[in-house]
Order: sequence, then structure tokens, then C-alpha cells
Amino acid sequence: MIGFTELFNTPALSKKIFRYLVRKTGFGSWRFRFETGSLARPNYAYLVYQAALLAKRLGEPRVSVIEFGVAGGAGLVEMERYAEKIEQMLGVKIEIYGFDSAEGLPAPADYRDLPYHWKPGFFHMDMALLRSKLKRAQLVIGDTRDTTQSFTEQFNPAPIGAISFDLDFHSSTVAALRILEADHKYLLPRMVIYFDDVVGTEIELYNDFTGVRLAIHEFNRDHVKRRLSPLYYLRAIDPMTLWHHFMWSFHAFDHPKYGQFVSKENQQIPLQ
Ligand SMILES: C[S@@+](CC[C@H](N)C(=O)[O-])C[C@H]1O[C@@H](n2cnc3c(N)ncnc32)[C@H](O)[C@@H]1O
Repeated sequence: MIGFTELFNTPALSKKIFRYLVRKTGFGSWRFRFETGSLARPNYAYLVYQAALLAKRLGEPRVSVIEFGVAGGAGLVEMERYAEKIEQMLGVKIEIYGFDSAEGLPAPADYRDLPYHWKPGFFHMDMALLRSKLKRAQLVIGDTRDTTQSFTEQFNPAPIGAISFDLDFHSSTVAALRILEADHKYLLPRMVIYFDDVVGTEIELYNDFTGVRLAIHEFNRDHVKRRLSPLYYLRAIDPMTLWHHFMWSFHAFDHPKYGQFVSKENQQIPLQ
């Protein structure tokens, strides 16, 4: 049996306790809390930061970050807070869009939407309350099957630099992923992407043949020049942090800026 000291000394637990204490006490600067993963939603902070950083490196003055699946709006409100700080840090203007029906989950289309785990109406939104709390985010209300198609024409957004997909269903995610087919002027050439429903527990048993993982597989099957890939770097630097396993990267190989140099200028390795 594992003892208390051993348990405390496991990297995962001590990191969790450290982050919890930093978050609860508000210890250190915002940047320190961001860099140690101690913010309430470190995954969202990472999305906003990476989107703004790549925009800056590419010389784009504005960038968009999207949340598909807003529910009550706790995540969107948190995303706004991060955008405010990151805008100051990097000097890139950040637009935020939140897509939702406002009615909660629709009826599952078939077994691929995991009806053994989800019910229609889960996670409905109090739109008036959410609107009263939002400062910059714009809500895109309606079924993603319709709103994804008309989004760029209706909102003329800054290039999209990061997306959180949290729609729970295979059918809704397939529809939302079509945003990645947009004209290159609405996209950064690469993005960081968060998929909420890819790990789960023994109840969901997320797998490659249903749900969001199937939607990702089908997107890659159907597109040659636009692809989704697991974000291997995060999983390598810290496999114990759960949300690292939820991160993908998007690549638009047909984007005119795909090859624009954004890395370190001096990569010479000195001969000792
Ligand atoms: C789990 S909740 C999102 C939670 C939110 N991201 C958060 O972290 O607080 C899933 C949301 O997806 C929305 N949704 C699912 N399928 C949809 C569809 N086809 N069109 C629009 N919204 C949809 C539901 O209304 C629900 O609010």
C-alpha cells in the first residue's frame, strides 16, 4: 500500500497541491500563475497565449480565439480575463467568439454521440445572465451545423489562432470542425486546439470509433492540406498534467504564411 509520504512525493500530487495553493492565495504575478499552470483554466490560458504569440510572430495585429460549446459561460468569462492580460503582454488585439445553441445538448443523432452518457438539454445557458457578464466575447447562437457555415461572412473575424471544442457530440463536432475549411485569410497557418471529450472515465470510454476522436479521424481522412495532430510537445514535457492529453495542433499546409519563419534566429551549435 502507498504511504502518505510516497503519495505526497509523487510529482502529480505535489504539483496539484502547489498549483491549488498558488491559485487560492493569488501568490505571485499573473505571469507566474500562468507559467506554473496555476490559473483556474490553464488550458484556456495556453490557447489564448499561443494564438497571440503566433499572431505576433507572423506580424498579425489581431487574432481570434473560439470556444465551441459555451454552456453557462464560466469558461468564456475566464477566457476573457486571460485575453485582457495577454493583450497587454504581447500587444496583439484578441477577439473571442463563443458558439452554442443556448438550449443545451440536442438529441443524440446516433450511437456515435454517446447516448449512454449524454441527455438532451444538459448544460443549457442563461443567456441574459451570461451577456451581462461578458465584456468582449461575442456569442454565436444557434446550431453549429448552421452557425459554423455563416460565421466568417457574418462576423468578419480576425484570423483564428486557437479553438476549444467542447460540444460533447460527434455530430456537433463534425459540423464545427468545418470552420477549419475557411479561407486562409480567416485562419493562422497553425493553431493550438483543445478537445474536451477525448479522455473521460470508465463511463464515457472515449475511443477512436465514436465521439470526438472519431470526428478528428474523419477530418484528417477527408482533408489533405489541412490536418489535426496531437500536440506531442506538451505530452512529452509533462505527461502527468491531464489537459496536455487534450491538446492538438492544426496545420493549414495551403496557407500562404505556413512556411514563414517564426523560430529563433540563431540556432548555431558551438563546437566546444
Ligand atoms: C459541456 S457543455 C460546454 C461547457 C463549457 N465549454 C465550459 O467549459 O463551461 C457542451 C455545450 O455544447 C453545446 N452544443 C452541443 N451540440 C451543439 C450544437 N450542435 N450546436 C450548438 N451547441 C451545441 C450545448 O448547448 C452545451 O452547452
